[in-house]
Amino acid sequence: MAGRDENSAQYGRGLVMNPSQQRIGLLCFAGLQRASLEELSQRGISFHVRDSITLRNHDLILVDIERAAVPKLLGLRTVEDLFFPVAEKAPAAAEKDLQRKGKWWNQEQLFAGLHLKNELFPGAKPNKNIGFAVFVKQDRDHALHRKQAAAAIADKLGAFRRWKPRDPADIEVWGFLKDDTLTTCLRLTDNSFRQRSYRSEERSGSLRPTLAAALVALSHTGPGDVFLDPMCGSGTIVAERIGYGPFSHLYGCDLDQEAVRVTQRAVEACLRREKRDNVTIRQCDARRLDLDAGCIDTLVANLPWGKQYNLQGQRPNERLYRQLLTEFDRVVTASGTMVLLTAEASALSRACEQLGLAGEDRLKMKVLGSWAQAMVIKKEASH
Ligand SMILES: C[S@@+](CC[C@H](N)C(=O)[O-])C[C@H]1O[C@@H](n2cnc3c(N)ncnc32)[C@H](O)[C@@H]1O
Repeated sequence: MAGRDENSAQYGRGLVMNPSQQRIGLLCFAGLQRASLEELSQRGISFHVRDSITLRNHDLILVDIERAAVPKLLGLRTVEDLFFPVAEKAPAAAEKDLQRKGKWWNQEQLFAGLHLKNELFPGAKPNKNIGFAVFVKQDRDHALHRKQAAAAIADKLGAFRRWKPRDPADIEVWGFLKDDTLTTCLRLTDNSFRQRSYRSEERSGSLRPTLAAALVALSHTGPGDVFLDPMCGSGTIVAERIGYGPFSHLYGCDLDQEAVRVTQRAVEACLRREKRDNVTIRQCDARRLDLDAGCIDTLVANLPWGKQYNLQGQRPNERLYRQLLTEFDRVVTASGTMVLLTAEASALSRACEQLGLAGEDRLKMKVLGSWAQAMVIKKEASH
C-alpha cells in the first residue's frame, strides 16, 4: 500500500493512499496504544500503524484500515474518540509556519472527512451554516502557543463564508502539537462514543470505561471464560466485560456493600434488565473469596493503591497484595490469566516474586492523572 507521497507538497497535502484504504486517528488514554491495537485485532480489523503521537494525557494512533471496516470502529471500547486526519505533521515551530496562505492545510481532506462523518452518522448532517470549534492538545509546552495553533486552524475554517465558530459546534477540528509539528484532524465521534449508559452512579476513583475496557482486552478473555473482578468498585470492569462479548460466567465481588449495589445496577443497565443466571455480584473479602480453587479463567482487578485506596494506614498494600495474590492464585486455573492494575508496581512485583508468579508483562498507563501499571500474569508461565 502506498504511504505518503514524498514528491507532492509535504505535510499531508499529498496523501496518496490505496483508494480501498482509509487513515483514521484513534485517540486513547496515554499508554493504551497496545490495548487498543489488540482490540482491533480481536475484532478482526486489519490495520497498518502509520504513526503515533504521544501527548500529555493521550496517544493518537494513526492507522490505515480497509474502508469497508470503518463502521466496525464504532464498536471499539478502548478508544476515546475517532478522528479523520486533515493535514499531517505540518511544521509548526512558529506562528509564521501556519500562515493563512501556507500550504499546510488540505481542504479536500476536510471535505472527505465530513463526507465520512455523514456516512457514519447520517442523522447528524449539519446545514450549510456550519458552526465549528477548534481544540489543540500537545505533548509539552511549545514556542508556538496552543492558542496560536488553534487560531491558525480556525482561520482556515473561517475562510468558508458560512462557517462560524459556535458553541455547541456542529463539527470539531483538533490539532495535535508534537515535536514542532501540527497534525490536524476532524473529530468523527461525539461524547456518546466514550460515554456508557450503565454509569448512572460513580464512586470516587472509579476507572474510566476505556481504561477498564483496555484491561479486559489485555486479558484476552474468551467466550468460554469464567471471569472475575474481585474488587469491582463501581462495576466498570464488570460492565466492560459484558460489553466485550460472551462469557461462561461473570463474578464481581467487593468488600463494600455500597459498591456491590452500584455494580448490580450497572450490570442491570448493561443487560437491559434481562435476567441472566451467569452473572453473580456479591459482597466478599477478596482475601477470602467464597469460590472453589481453580474455577476462574480470567481475573481482572484495579487494586487498591495510593492514598485514596490505602485502607490500613502506612504502606499496607505490600501485605495486602501478598494476601490478595495468594487468594487470586488459588482461584485462578493453572492456565489462567490475571491483569492487575496498580501504581504501586514494586509492591506488586515483590508479592509476585514471593509467590513465584511471573508478572513481567507490564504496561504503563495514565489513570486519573497518575501513571499506573497493568501487570499481565500468565499462570502457565509461572511457578
Ligand atoms: C481501586 S477500587 C476499584 C475500582 C473499580 N475498578 C472501579 O472502576 O470502580 C478498589 C475497590 O476495592 C474494594 N476493596 C478494598 N479492599 C477489598 C477487599 N479486601 N476485598 C474486596 N474488595 C475490596 C474497595 O471497596 C473498592 O471498591
